[in-house]
Amino acid sequence: MSEVSAITVNNLVKSVATQEGELTILNGINMDVKQGQSIAILGPSGSGKSTLLGLLAALDSPTSGEIILDGVALQSLDEEKKAALRKQKVSFIFQSFMLVDTLNALENVMLPAELAGIHQAKEKAEAMLERVGLSHRLTHFPNQLSGGEQQRVAIARAFICEPKVLFADEPTGNLDAVNSEKVADMLFELNRESETTLVLVTHDLILAKRCQRQLLMDTGVITESEGEPNKDKTLSNNPAQSHLASVEAS
Ligand SMILES: Nc1ncnc2c1ncn2[C@@H]1O[C@H](COP(=O)(O)OP(=O)(O)OP(=O)(O)O)[C@@H](O)[C@H]1O
Ligand SMILES: [Mg+2]
Repeated sequence: MSEVSAITVNNLVKSVATQEGELTILNGINMDVKQGQSIAILGPSGSGKSTLLGLLAALDSPTSGEIILDGVALQSLDEEKKAALRKQKVSFIFQSFMLVDTLNALENVMLPAELAGIHQAKEKAEAMLERVGLSHRLTHFPNQLSGGEQQRVAIARAFICEPKVLFADEPTGNLDAVNSEKVADMLFELNRESETTLVLVTHDLILAKRCQRQLLMDTGVITESEGEPNKDKTLSNNPAQSHLASVEAS
Protein backbone atom coordinates (compact mmCIF):
# COMPACT_ATOMS: atom_id res chain seq x y z
CA MET A 1 0.00 0.00 0.00
CA SER A 2 1.14 3.49 -0.83
CA GLU A 3 2.03 6.11 1.77
CA VAL A 4 0.48 8.80 -0.39
CA SER A 5 -2.89 10.10 0.82
CA ALA A 6 -5.91 9.56 -1.40
CA ILE A 7 -8.18 11.50 0.95
CA THR A 8 -7.34 13.85 3.81
CA VAL A 9 -10.08 15.43 5.88
CA ASN A 10 -9.45 18.22 8.38
CA ASN A 11 -12.05 19.35 10.87
CA LEU A 12 -14.99 18.82 8.55
CA VAL A 13 -18.32 20.28 9.62
CA LYS A 14 -21.66 20.03 7.84
CA SER A 15 -24.66 21.90 9.18
CA VAL A 16 -28.02 22.43 7.53
CA ALA A 17 -30.89 24.79 8.28
CA THR A 18 -34.07 23.02 9.36
CA GLN A 19 -37.43 24.24 10.66
CA GLU A 20 -36.21 23.45 14.18
CA GLY A 21 -33.03 25.49 13.66
CA GLU A 22 -29.55 24.58 12.61
CA LEU A 23 -28.72 20.87 12.54
CA THR A 24 -25.08 19.80 12.71
CA ILE A 25 -24.79 16.53 10.80
CA LEU A 26 -20.98 16.24 10.83
CA ASN A 27 -19.18 17.69 13.78
CA GLY A 28 -15.44 17.98 13.15
CA ILE A 29 -14.37 14.92 11.16
CA ASN A 30 -10.65 14.18 10.74
CA MET A 31 -9.39 11.27 8.70
CA ASP A 32 -6.68 10.23 6.31
CA VAL A 33 -6.98 7.43 3.75
CA LYS A 34 -3.92 6.23 1.85
CA GLN A 35 -3.96 5.37 -1.82
CA GLY A 36 -5.03 1.80 -2.38
CA GLN A 37 -6.44 1.42 1.12
CA SER A 38 -9.86 -0.10 1.80
CA ILE A 39 -11.95 1.39 4.60
CA ALA A 40 -15.38 0.61 5.96
CA ILE A 41 -17.53 3.24 7.67
CA LEU A 42 -20.03 1.72 10.07
CA GLY A 43 -22.59 3.31 12.35
CA PRO A 44 -26.26 3.72 13.18
CA SER A 45 -28.87 5.05 10.78
CA GLY A 46 -28.89 8.85 10.69
CA SER A 47 -25.35 9.21 12.07
CA GLY A 48 -24.08 11.05 8.96
CA LYS A 49 -22.42 8.32 6.86
CA SER A 50 -24.03 9.18 3.52
CA THR A 51 -23.52 12.88 4.17
CA LEU A 52 -19.80 12.30 4.72
CA LEU A 53 -19.50 10.14 1.60
CA GLY A 54 -21.21 12.80 -0.54
CA LEU A 55 -18.77 15.44 0.71
CA LEU A 56 -15.71 13.24 0.16
CA ALA A 57 -16.83 12.54 -3.42
CA ALA A 58 -17.26 16.28 -4.11
CA LEU A 59 -21.01 15.88 -4.61
CA ASP A 60 -21.80 18.37 -1.86
CA SER A 61 -19.99 21.22 -0.06
CA PRO A 62 -19.11 21.34 3.64
CA THR A 63 -19.98 24.17 6.02
CA SER A 64 -16.34 24.35 7.08
CA GLY A 65 -13.19 22.27 7.07
CA GLU A 66 -11.00 20.85 4.39
CA ILE A 67 -11.05 17.83 2.06
CA ILE A 68 -8.05 16.97 -0.09
CA LEU A 69 -8.85 14.37 -2.74
CA ASP A 70 -5.86 12.91 -4.58
CA GLY A 71 -3.82 16.04 -3.81
CA VAL A 72 -6.53 18.54 -4.76
CA ALA A 73 -8.20 20.77 -2.13
CA LEU A 74 -11.90 20.56 -2.99
CA GLN A 75 -12.73 23.99 -1.55
CA SER A 76 -10.52 25.58 -4.21
CA LEU A 77 -12.69 24.22 -7.03
CA ASP A 78 -15.81 25.71 -8.62
CA GLU A 79 -18.69 23.39 -9.59
CA GLU A 80 -17.34 22.83 -13.09
CA LYS A 81 -13.90 21.81 -11.84
CA LYS A 82 -15.47 19.56 -9.21
CA ALA A 83 -17.47 17.81 -11.93
CA ALA A 84 -14.31 17.34 -14.00
CA LEU A 85 -12.48 15.90 -10.98
CA ARG A 86 -15.33 13.48 -10.28
CA LYS A 87 -15.38 12.31 -13.88
CA GLN A 88 -11.64 11.77 -13.89
CA LYS A 89 -11.07 10.12 -10.53
CA VAL A 90 -14.18 9.09 -8.68
CA SER A 91 -16.99 6.58 -8.90
CA PHE A 92 -19.95 6.46 -6.58
CA ILE A 93 -22.38 3.66 -5.82
CA PHE A 94 -25.42 5.36 -4.32
CA GLN A 95 -27.57 3.93 -1.57
CA SER A 96 -30.56 4.58 -3.86
CA PHE A 97 -28.71 3.37 -7.01
CA MET A 98 -29.49 6.51 -9.10
CA LEU A 99 -29.81 4.67 -12.38
CA VAL A 100 -31.09 6.64 -15.36
CA ASP A 101 -34.73 5.53 -15.74
CA THR A 102 -34.86 6.07 -19.50
CA LEU A 103 -31.77 3.95 -20.21
CA ASN A 104 -31.66 0.16 -20.09
CA ALA A 105 -29.13 -1.77 -17.97
CA LEU A 106 -26.51 -1.91 -20.73
CA GLU A 107 -26.89 1.78 -21.58
CA ASN A 108 -26.66 2.77 -17.91
CA VAL A 109 -23.32 0.97 -17.57
CA MET A 110 -22.04 2.32 -20.90
CA LEU A 111 -22.83 5.93 -20.02
CA PRO A 112 -19.77 6.90 -17.93
CA ALA A 113 -17.47 5.04 -20.32
CA GLU A 114 -18.90 6.94 -23.27
CA LEU A 115 -18.60 10.24 -21.41
CA ALA A 116 -14.96 9.45 -20.66
CA GLY A 117 -14.33 8.56 -24.30
CA ILE A 118 -13.40 4.96 -23.47
CA HIS A 119 -12.97 2.64 -26.46
CA GLN A 120 -15.40 -0.26 -26.90
CA ALA A 121 -17.74 1.01 -24.21
CA LYS A 122 -20.46 -1.46 -25.25
CA GLU A 123 -18.23 -4.54 -25.06
CA LYS A 124 -16.81 -3.40 -21.71
CA ALA A 125 -20.28 -2.74 -20.33
CA GLU A 126 -21.45 -6.19 -21.44
CA ALA A 127 -18.43 -7.79 -19.77
CA MET A 128 -19.08 -5.86 -16.53
CA LEU A 129 -22.73 -6.88 -16.50
CA GLU A 130 -21.70 -10.47 -17.06
CA ARG A 131 -19.42 -10.23 -14.01
CA VAL A 132 -22.32 -9.14 -11.84
CA GLY A 133 -24.49 -11.96 -13.24
CA LEU A 134 -26.81 -9.83 -15.36
CA SER A 135 -26.12 -10.93 -18.95
CA HIS A 136 -29.77 -11.93 -19.21
CA ARG A 137 -31.02 -8.45 -18.26
CA LEU A 138 -29.11 -6.14 -20.64
CA THR A 139 -32.20 -4.55 -22.20
CA HIS A 140 -34.28 -4.23 -19.04
CA PHE A 141 -34.99 -0.72 -17.79
CA PRO A 142 -34.48 0.09 -14.07
CA ASN A 143 -38.21 -0.24 -13.29
CA GLN A 144 -38.11 -3.76 -14.76
CA LEU A 145 -35.27 -4.84 -12.44
CA SER A 146 -35.40 -6.02 -8.83
CA GLY A 147 -33.66 -3.95 -6.12
CA GLY A 148 -30.67 -6.29 -6.04
CA GLU A 149 -30.43 -6.27 -9.84
CA GLN A 150 -30.48 -2.45 -9.91
CA GLN A 151 -27.74 -2.45 -7.29
CA ARG A 152 -25.61 -4.74 -9.46
CA VAL A 153 -26.13 -2.47 -12.49
CA ALA A 154 -24.98 0.47 -10.35
CA ILE A 155 -21.90 -1.52 -9.33
CA ALA A 156 -21.06 -2.42 -12.94
CA ARG A 157 -21.47 1.26 -13.86
CA ALA A 158 -19.15 2.37 -11.06
CA PHE A 159 -16.46 -0.09 -12.12
CA ILE A 160 -16.34 0.53 -15.83
CA CYS A 161 -13.91 3.50 -15.70
CA GLU A 162 -11.54 1.92 -13.15
CA PRO A 163 -11.75 4.90 -10.77
CA LYS A 164 -8.92 6.02 -8.49
CA VAL A 165 -11.34 6.20 -5.59
CA LEU A 166 -14.57 4.26 -5.31
CA PHE A 167 -17.20 5.43 -2.84
CA ALA A 168 -19.97 2.97 -2.17
CA ASP A 169 -22.96 3.57 0.09
CA GLU A 170 -24.27 0.18 1.27
CA PRO A 171 -23.10 -1.65 -1.87
CA THR A 172 -24.49 -4.98 -0.65
CA GLY A 173 -27.57 -3.56 1.11
CA ASN A 174 -30.06 -5.20 -1.24
CA LEU A 175 -28.21 -8.40 -2.06
CA ASP A 176 -28.49 -11.99 -0.87
CA ALA A 177 -25.45 -13.73 0.63
CA VAL A 178 -24.23 -15.18 -2.67
CA ASN A 179 -24.43 -11.89 -4.55
CA SER A 180 -22.97 -9.96 -1.58
CA GLU A 181 -19.91 -12.14 -1.69
CA LYS A 182 -19.66 -11.78 -5.47
CA VAL A 183 -19.84 -7.98 -5.21
CA ALA A 184 -17.34 -7.90 -2.35
CA ASP A 185 -14.95 -10.06 -4.40
CA MET A 186 -15.29 -7.59 -7.28
CA LEU A 187 -14.64 -4.62 -5.03
CA PHE A 188 -11.44 -6.13 -3.65
CA GLU A 189 -10.31 -7.30 -7.09
CA LEU A 190 -10.60 -3.72 -8.33
CA ASN A 191 -8.75 -2.60 -5.22
CA ARG A 192 -5.91 -5.06 -5.91
CA GLU A 193 -5.67 -4.84 -9.68
CA SER A 194 -6.17 -1.10 -10.21
CA GLU A 195 -5.02 0.12 -6.74
CA THR A 196 -8.45 1.70 -6.37
CA THR A 197 -9.01 3.21 -2.94
CA LEU A 198 -12.26 1.85 -1.47
CA VAL A 199 -14.44 3.84 0.91
CA LEU A 200 -17.46 1.75 1.82
CA VAL A 201 -20.39 2.64 4.04
CA THR A 202 -21.88 -0.62 5.19
CA HIS A 203 -23.89 -2.47 7.80
CA ASP A 204 -22.50 -5.72 6.40
CA LEU A 205 -19.94 -6.91 8.95
CA ILE A 206 -18.48 -9.54 6.64
CA LEU A 207 -17.75 -6.83 4.08
CA ALA A 208 -16.48 -4.41 6.76
CA LYS A 209 -14.04 -6.96 8.12
CA ARG A 210 -12.56 -7.57 4.68
CA CYS A 211 -11.50 -3.88 4.65
CA GLN A 212 -8.13 -2.87 6.06
CA ARG A 213 -9.67 -0.29 8.37
CA GLN A 214 -13.01 0.19 10.09
CA LEU A 215 -14.33 3.57 11.19
CA LEU A 216 -17.40 4.13 13.31
CA MET A 217 -19.64 7.12 12.75
CA ASP A 218 -21.81 8.17 15.68
CA THR A 219 -23.85 11.39 15.67
CA GLY A 220 -21.47 13.20 13.36
CA VAL A 221 -18.23 12.08 14.99
CA ILE A 222 -15.91 9.42 13.62
CA THR A 223 -13.71 6.99 15.56
CA GLU A 224 -10.99 4.82 14.17
CA SER A 225 -10.77 1.12 14.83
CA GLU A 226 -7.28 0.14 13.89
CA GLY A 227 -4.26 -1.73 15.07
CA GLU A 228 -3.64 -5.41 15.29
CA PRO A 229 -0.70 -4.95 17.73
CA ASN A 230 -2.80 -3.93 20.73
CA LYS A 231 -5.92 -5.74 19.76
CA ASP A 232 -7.12 -6.58 23.28
CA LYS A 233 -6.49 -3.10 24.56
CA THR A 234 -8.12 -1.57 21.49
CA LEU A 235 -11.15 -3.78 21.93
CA SER A 236 -11.95 -2.49 25.37
CA ASN A 237 -11.16 1.16 24.69
CA ASN A 238 -12.24 1.72 21.17
CA PRO A 239 -15.91 2.40 20.32
CA ALA A 240 -15.52 1.13 16.74
CA GLN A 241 -14.03 -2.19 17.89
CA SER A 242 -16.65 -2.52 20.61
CA HIS A 243 -19.37 -1.81 18.06
CA LEU A 244 -18.05 -4.55 15.76
CA ALA A 245 -17.73 -6.97 18.66
CA SER A 246 -21.20 -6.23 20.05
CA VAL A 247 -22.97 -6.51 16.66
CA GLU A 248 -21.14 -9.74 16.07
CA ALA A 249 -22.13 -11.15 19.43
CA SER A 250 -25.82 -10.32 18.91
N1 LIG B 1 -30.44 18.25 3.68
C1 LIG B 1 -30.77 17.85 4.91
N2 LIG B 1 -31.59 18.62 5.66
C2 LIG B 1 -31.92 18.24 6.92
N3 LIG B 1 -31.46 17.12 7.51
C3 LIG B 1 -30.64 16.33 6.81
C4 LIG B 1 -30.26 16.65 5.46
N4 LIG B 1 -29.43 15.66 5.03
C5 LIG B 1 -29.32 14.78 6.03
N5 LIG B 1 -30.05 15.17 7.11
C6 LIG B 1 -30.13 14.48 8.41
O1 LIG B 1 -28.81 14.20 8.83
C7 LIG B 1 -28.69 12.94 9.43
C8 LIG B 1 -27.63 12.11 8.75
O2 LIG B 1 -28.09 11.67 7.47
P1 LIG B 1 -27.31 10.60 6.61
O3 LIG B 1 -28.12 10.35 5.38
O4 LIG B 1 -25.91 11.07 6.41
O5 LIG B 1 -27.32 9.34 7.58
P2 LIG B 1 -26.74 7.86 7.39
O6 LIG B 1 -25.75 7.62 8.47
O7 LIG B 1 -26.30 7.69 5.98
O8 LIG B 1 -28.03 6.97 7.68
P3 LIG B 1 -28.54 5.58 7.00
O9 LIG B 1 -27.71 4.47 7.62
O10 LIG B 1 -29.97 5.49 7.41
O11 LIG B 1 -28.37 5.68 5.51
C9 LIG B 1 -30.09 12.34 9.38
O12 LIG B 1 -30.68 12.49 10.63
C10 LIG B 1 -30.82 13.13 8.32
O13 LIG B 1 -32.18 13.24 8.61
MG1 LIG C 1 -27.05 6.56 4.38
